[in-house]
Amino acid sequence: MASPAPSPATPLRALAALAVLVSAAAAAAACSESDRDALLSIRAALSEARLGVFSTWKGDDCCASWYGVSCDPTNGRVADLSLRGEADDAVMAPEGHPASGVMSGYISDHVCHLDALSSLILADWKQISGPIPSCIATSLPSLRILELPANRLTGEIPRSIGSLSRLAVLNLADNLISGAIPDSISSLASLKHLDLANNQLTGRIPASIGNLATLSRALLGRNRLSGPIPPSVGSLGRLADLDLSENRLSGAIPDSLGSSDGGVLTTLHLGTNRISGRIPAKLLATKGLGIVNLSRNAMEGPIPEVFTGNSYFMVLDLSRNRLTGGVPRSLASATYVGHLDLSHNRLCGTIPTGPPFDHLDAESFASNSCLCGAPLGKCT
Ligand SMILES: *[C@@H]1O[C@H](CO)[C@@H](O)[C@H](O)[C@H]1NC(C)=O
Repeated sequence: MASPAPSPATPLRALAALAVLVSAAAAAAACSESDRDALLSIRAALSEARLGVFSTWKGDDCCASWYGVSCDPTNGRVADLSLRGEADDAVMAPEGHPASGVMSGYISDHVCHLDALSSLILADWKQISGPIPSCIATSLPSLRILELPANRLTGEIPRSIGSLSRLAVLNLADNLISGAIPDSISSLASLKHLDLANNQLTGRIPASIGNLATLSRALLGRNRLSGPIPPSVGSLGRLADLDLSENRLSGAIPDSLGSSDGGVLTTLHLGTNRISGRIPAKLLATKGLGIVNLSRNAMEGPIPEVFTGNSYFMVLDLSRNRLTGGVPRSLASATYVGHLDLSHNRLCGTIPTGPPFDHLDAESFASNSCLCGAPLGKCT
């Protein structure tokens, strides 16, 4: 039997096969060995039994099918580590149920060996404890997203957090983090979302927070922050949501807040603090500001008469302060007032008539000095 004569197509076919191999390699480099070792050390410090998220962490190629791990296909470096304990995730959820997992243990320092990491998300695991490894701030220069909410993390926010020059999202909410907000936070020039709510943070809000030119959400509620609201907050031109409620903040609301032309402030929660002084007129006149809660403070003076056809309030809660004067008549020119609460103040006089006043309950006006007229009793 003669061996088959080499056909002219063969070198071409070989070349094509080689091209496929090369492009496959280019499409997905296998996991870097040191990154895989780091992941295994991270796993060794954590335990999760209910969903079995770590059951897929086997074999050499951590970029291939390890749950929650994704790599830069050009070099096999781990770019994202994202494990969420509460998710609508078809892979991990028992059929027909959203995933709800519990993970305990701590975040290993070995996470700092994943030095190509762009996002680190360990969210809603309820039981992960211990501190945030401080080496994260200095070892992960590509980090854009750091989300570790709803665990039991303790200790302080790493002091040099400001070194993470690409960080856009910092979410450490719902933990047991204590200490002060580091001043260096104001160096996070790309920061858009800052959520530190529901921790045990103390001290003042850094005055330099006004440097965060791209900041859109600042959620610092339910901590133990004290001192004034820094006036520089008013210079955050992209700030849409500000929540400082349930702290120990004192002093007046800065005149600069919300007043900036072209500002985008839509939600302001300052309830349950020790804020005093008057309500800045420009604040309530801010176009687009739709949710304002100044309840449970020590604010005094009149409610400014600044409402216009541009006013559109889903919520305007000024209850439990020391406000004096009457109910502003200009509220009648607001396009919409959904929930209005002026109760527990020192207001006096006749409640105006017409919308929005004719759809409000007596509760909106209860416990004032001498308000009268519908929905309260007749004026005498
Ligand atoms: C305003 O904030 C306080 C907490 O500070 C809260 O108890 C209250 O329900 C809020 N009001 C509205 C209308 O959401």
